[in-house]
Amino acid sequence: MRRVLSGMFFAIVLVSPALAGESPWAIHLSWQHDPTTTMTIMWRTDPGITESVVEYGPTPEYREGTTGSSHTYTYAGEEVRWHIVELGDLSPGTTYHYRCGAPGHWSPDHVFTTAPEDSPRLTYKFAVMGDSRGGYEVLGTLLGLVAQEGVDFIIFTGDLTDGGSQYEYDRWFAAAESVFSEIPLISVHGNHEAMLPTYFEEFAFPGNEKWFSFDYGPVHFVFLLSISEAYVTEQRPWLLADLRQNRSPWTIVVAHKPAFSADESHGPTRYVLDHWVDIFERYGVDLYFNGHAHDYERTWPIKRGRIDQEGVVYVTTGGAGAPLHRNGRDWWTAVSAGVHHYIVVQVRPHQLRVVVKDLQGETIDRFILSKP
Ligand SMILES: [Fe+2]
Repeated sequence: MRRVLSGMFFAIVLVSPALAGESPWAIHLSWQHDPTTTMTIMWRTDPGITESVVEYGPTPEYREGTTGSSHTYTYAGEEVRWHIVELGDLSPGTTYHYRCGAPGHWSPDHVFTTAPEDSPRLTYKFAVMGDSRGGYEVLGTLLGLVAQEGVDFIIFTGDLTDGGSQYEYDRWFAAAESVFSEIPLISVHGNHEAMLPTYFEEFAFPGNEKWFSFDYGPVHFVFLLSISEAYVTEQRPWLLADLRQNRSPWTIVVAHKPAFSADESHGPTRYVLDHWVDIFERYGVDLYFNGHAHDYERTWPIKRGRIDQEGVVYVTTGGAGAPLHRNGRDWWTAVSAGVHHYIVVQVRPHQLRVVVKDLQGETIDRFILSKP
């Protein structure tokens, strides 16, 4: 069964992005504001098509429509046009059908589901993965497996492509569109995004898109920019203020570079250890997800430089397609594996249940964080 599905997803990957024409392509969902009541939809068309419309509703008859905007840039002499529509006033925990485009050149029907309102009984799942780089076939296979897990959204830990060129992003979207047109993507910026305009033109995230936070049920998610010491120190006041006002039972931080990693190509990031870890410990961050190291690693909970049950668990997930690194071990290592993989986190009342699976869908790690 697994082999059959795997073949199917390879077929998806190999579809050329140049199918383009007048129909929307590279359709993907994300949030810029509250996940319970908003959804942002982006897509590309030929540059001559300027209308940006999303029709949506409880059925494929849609009933409602919202007009957005489009923007263009020139890459390697070619004009690239992206469209963006943010839907608002949506009902929490509700599945909507939608199509994007404009009269005469609509996308196929897609569906999305808004975040449910927080309640003591709420459970949901999200996935985490990162560092696809040039590994589009691995990315497509992993995303196919993730889609079967029934996750509500997918977090990417950065380094989507090798060099951030439009050609690479076209291939990335060809591998990813079938999933991200129905499951929202939230990413951090990695060093291979290199602050290039392509990344910021192609995705829409909250705030300045470089560091931001939002709540989803009982979890406060914080996304940080870790590509240089200057950015890491610049975010300290923002991070302190954000975590000071946080009242969520759980706090998860996502950034590209590791704090603790025994990956033999990179290892730990000194300036993350120096400028962020004290804040994580002071404000009770539960989990830190990072990419950059091309392996899977989980630390024991760490506080004040030693293993402590009250500490932060650091998880490296940089195995979504990039060439694998030689994974190592250090005093903090609970699990270390040099494999392509993805992570699914099930949020339950009082628990985060984490399962990590490889390219064959086999479990390589599982752990549970519990709170009273
Ligand atoms: Fe990286």
